Amino acid sequence: MSQEKILVTAALPYANGPIHLGHLSGAYLPADIYVRYKRLKGSDIVFICGSDEHGVPITISADKEGVKPKVIIDRYHELNKMAFEQFGMSFDNYSRTSLPIHHETGKEFFLEFYNRGILVEKQSQQFYDEKAKMFLPDRYVEGTCPVCGYEEARSDECENCGSLYQPTELKNPKSKISGEKPVLKETSHWYFPLGKYQKRLEEYIKEMNEKFGWKENVLQYCRGWFKDGLGDRAITRDLDWGIKVPLDGVEGKVLYVWFEAVLGYISSSKEWAQNKGDENLWRKYWQDPETKYVAFIGKDNVVFHCIVFPAFLMAWNDGEKVKYCLPQNVPANEFLNFEGKKFSKSRNWGIDVIDFLKLFPADPLRYTLAANLPETRDTDFYWKEFQLRNNSELADILGNFINRTFTFVHKNFEGKVPAKGKLEDIDNEMIKTIDEYPEKISKLFESYKIRDGVLEAMNLARAGNKYFNDSEPWKTIKSDKGKCATTLNICLQAIYTLAELMNPVIPFSSEKIFKMLNAEKTDWASCGKENLKAGHQLNNAEIIFPKIEDEIIEKQMENLNKPEEKVEQKTDETVSIDEFLKIQLKVAEIIEAEKLEKSEKLLKLKIRLENEERQVIAGIAKSYKPEDLINKKVVIVANLKPAKLMGFESQGMILAAEDEKGGLQVLSVNNSVKSGTRVK
Ligand code: MF3
Ligand code: ZN
Repeated sequence: MSQEKILVTAALPYANGPIHLGHLSGAYLPADIYVRYKRLKGSDIVFICGSDEHGVPITISADKEGVKPKVIIDRYHELNKMAFEQFGMSFDNYSRTSLPIHHETGKEFFLEFYNRGILVEKQSQQFYDEKAKMFLPDRYVEGTCPVCGYEEARSDECENCGSLYQPTELKNPKSKISGEKPVLKETSHWYFPLGKYQKRLEEYIKEMNEKFGWKENVLQYCRGWFKDGLGDRAITRDLDWGIKVPLDGVEGKVLYVWFEAVLGYISSSKEWAQNKGDENLWRKYWQDPETKYVAFIGKDNVVFHCIVFPAFLMAWNDGEKVKYCLPQNVPANEFLNFEGKKFSKSRNWGIDVIDFLKLFPADPLRYTLAANLPETRDTDFYWKEFQLRNNSELADILGNFINRTFTFVHKNFEGKVPAKGKLEDIDNEMIKTIDEYPEKISKLFESYKIRDGVLEAMNLARAGNKYFNDSEPWKTIKSDKGKCATTLNICLQAIYTLAELMNPVIPFSSEKIFKMLNAEKTDWASCGKENLKAGHQLNNAEIIFPKIEDEIIEKQMENLNKPEEKVEQKTDETVSIDEFLKIQLKVAEIIEAEKLEKSEKLLKLKIRLENEERQVIAGIAKSYKPEDLINKKVVIVANLKPAKLMGFESQGMILAAEDEKGGLQVLSVNNSVKSGTRVK
């Protein structure tokens, strides 16, 4: 068989917040296990991901913090990239959609469609915020549901009763930006005529399913969409964050994030090729009909990857240019919940990957998540289960098998692989069992039953323990050393096989086991055979899976649901750069100052940031006369929650330090620094 050529993509996470365990279970871990497995099979494979950095989710996060979108994407791109690395994601490239190479790709697709007359331009009425001078994306408008009267209904959808309606039907609409009532204003957008592709899309999915076996949950979602019927979909938006619509005379419009984000897979591949020093290398995967393209995503992304993206590629492929391959399979997972409830940042329910990995190594987490992947239905992460999977499976089954074998061989055979002697039934059976495992697991992984594959691998360790017990080497070492040697030889071959079979799921531990074995990985097909020669010197054993104590798990469970403020910050604790950057220190100019009548300490100040003015109440009246402060440039905490002091709202806090006499010195900067400048 010729070498399989595979392209694997994993959904590009929004760079507007830290990824949590749910994201890992939905798309990233199964993708990584699959890729690592395929690499061991000797496939020619490239694994692509990156940050999704445009769209309303980013601007909403930026608005919340009062910063530019760039601040948000830079922070979370770096943070998520690091979290993925620590978790052992083996991407060949982790790109970002704010890069020029991606903007070019997005524009190229838009123009190709535009020039070939595929797109339809249509007028529509959209909410417009006259105060903020901008069109409001759906998520920026709130009002009363026309059906049930729920007061916090979205512009076109009510969370309370589930009704869908036109934004024009929403009662008492309010802009989330200014709080004002938005007006309806005419705007025009370009639409992709998805309906025209429906028939071909249905055929495409049918064919792919027949050839490659799609997951039932994914097919279900697609059927639902087809049943409702596909219509035109707007692929532009009135927004100023994103890829500008590349047409003369068009201002204030960008490509819709779901139009361009999926193309991010292509631009990330281009960036990968450039980094490899061969800028056309990406074509070898994307533009060869032989390529097996598999797209890993979570269920909320199904329509975009099974319908919208393939339709874009079909439209492109109908033209004159070199054609792209469509996904052969989209093995989307359902969701992972956390201790019985949905992950929720605002309710502090769940845990981010980066925080988890400060507490525990990646492999026990990978194993626990893998053993419980939401492949057919939603599943849950439970702290107790995590502890149990680590202690009772990784440590007590796999770790114990490795440990007892190594200890025995070091004690009785000078740490060298003992030679096999005459084989008895029990030995032959074990040899056969080991040999069957790679194929058994292959079958499961090939059909995206990643969870079953991982659980199956642990069964080999169970079989190993049973074989060890039944063979009683602690007895045969005295009665029949040859038989004892055979037992240990076979146990070591099993450990070798386990190190390889478990490599995709617990790569860090697998490396350690190979190091202990003083051996290298082989290809998947031969890992169930005899790979360690008699006389081969082993290295010393180490504990690979330390147990996790009850107290540590209990502490995590206690932290749940605690409002974030209450999680105690010890003063000697270090903070990460990310934590520090949450606090926005900015330069502000004091433009007015007056004493608050009833207070000895407080001054009421008006300060100017870049282009806004704020009122700040500062406790510095004993140290400064109001007139001394005018035009002074000070440093404030700009994103402190507003608070009321003596009945006056304070929108920020001025930084000051106490001097020896107990007076306060405000931190000031020289006049050459512009107001609004961030202090970092
Ligand atoms: N950012 C999207 C999400 O987190 C996923 C985008 S996948 C893409 O749901 F490829 F289309 F970018
Ligand atoms: Zn309603």
